[in-house]
Amino acid sequence: MTTRINNNTLAIKPRRRRAVTLAGVAALLVGFGLVANALAGTLLGTKHDFTGLNQRAGVVAMPGLAFSDFGTSCVYCHLPPERPELDSADNGGNPGWNRFIPAQGAYDLYDSRTLDNKVRAPSPISLLCLSCHDGTMGVDMTVFKPDGWESSKDAAMHLRLNGGDDLMSCGKCHNGRVAHSIAIKHIGTDLTNDHPFSMTYAGLTDKDQDFRTPDGHYGFDNGIKLYDGKVECATCHNVHDPDITLLLRDRADRLCETCHIK
Ligand code: HEC
Ligand code: HEC
Ligand code: HEC
Ligand code: HEC
Ligand code: HEC
Repeated sequence: MTTRINNNTLAIKPRRRRAVTLAGVAALLVGFGLVANALAGTLLGTKHDFTGLNQRAGVVAMPGLAFSDFGTSCVYCHLPPERPELDSADNGGNPGWNRFIPAQGAYDLYDSRTLDNKVRAPSPISLLCLSCHDGTMGVDMTVFKPDGWESSKDAAMHLRLNGGDDLMSCGKCHNGRVAHSIAIKHIGTDLTNDHPFSMTYAGLTDKDQDFRTPDGHYGFDNGIKLYDGKVECATCHNVHDPDITLLLRDRADRLCETCHIK
């Protein structure tokens, strides 16, 4: 893994953050049983730190009003750690994640004449991202709510990450006037213009001259990850790291040449 995720960062990062949240996260990390790898769980200060948005933005518009405030930012993606026996797949969810799967065939996937490994269907780990970024489901539409959640605490609205100007969409405020436009984060379901993902990495063997061979089964030593030999959203993005631009695992100018030789 990258040197970013180590104990030094643990000492440095928390200073900017709220003690109360840190305590909560520490407890959660114990719940994940991954204390040694604690920094992998740091998400605070990123745009995915949903429970902290109001405080950071200095408004009361988001958690609790535009979407339900579950009290911890992890459960918007992860299964509640206090109940490890839960399986979201039994409830129509994305296996291993606390999100639902979009309708089958919802996506137009990338294709081209020169593409060697066609994308058949997005993998679960990328469907996780799309469940918010395609703009079709509320950001608080999780399969399980955390323990102790009562529906009386439900938010008035369950807005979607969508640039639309309606009461279903964050774009109601996030239109570039009331608040920054959210449209660029809204990837939608037409993925034909985005970098392909969920395809087998063409450089797995050294036969393809256009692609570098990975440093290991995990991917590349600069932190670019492969998942079962495939490229996924999380290959290029690390959602847990608050200190990197657009959550990119390497600088944009170096990212592409990690894999592409020309
Ligand atoms: C936006 C979705 C999202 C949120 C929110 C989120 N995670 Fe994750 N988490 C992921 C993804 C995707 C992975 C697997 C990615 C990877 O390989 O780095 C992951 C992996 C992990 C891992 C395993 C890391 C490893 O190296 O195997 C831990 C621990 C973790 N998350 C903890 C947390 C904690 C604690 C929080 C809340 C503070 C949190 N996550 C919030 C998406 C999320
Ligand atoms: C629960 C909903 C949700 C999930 C799941 C989710 N995101 Fe996001 N993501 C958001 C929101 C909300 C924003 C912030 C939008 C804004 O700032 O306008 C965001 C922002 C981002 C950004 C821009 C960050 C920045 O600093 O500007 C990236 C990149 C991103 N997400 C990638 C991912 C990836 C990769 C995954 C899957 C591992 C993922 N997201 C899963 C809701 C989600
Ligand atoms: C009632 C208006 C309103 C609604 C609805 C709203 N927001 Fe916001 N949001 C704001 C304002 C105002 C800010 C601060 C100014 C800015 O960032 O442009 C903000 C800031 C943010 C930030 C940046 C926080 C930071 O610290 O960087 C994110 C991310 C965000 N909103 C996500 C969302 C998402 C996702 C939704 C829908 C689920 C949403 N907002 C709905 C008004 C709103
Ligand atoms: C091959 C690497 C790569 C893959 C795979 C990838 N991204 Fe990105 N992503 C980038 C780069 C580079 C940028 C910044 C430049 C740009 O906007 O194109 C970016 C930008 C973003 C942004 C922010 C847009 C903005 O400019 O604010 C979001 C959100 C995002 N990606 C989500 C995703 C999701 C969701 C997936 C999977 C469906 C994904 N990415 C797959 C490399 C990647
Ligand atoms: C993790 C490795 C990886 C990274 C990083 C990466 N790519 Fe790719 N890229 C691939 C793979 C694999 C393919 C599909 C190749 C195939 O199967 O033919 C691909 C396909 C493409 C294609 C489509 C080619 C075609 O034949 O249709 C373009 C364009 C592209 N990448 C540009 C970029 C750019 C620009 C960046 C940097 C922002 C980038 N890639 C980063 C692995 C990567």
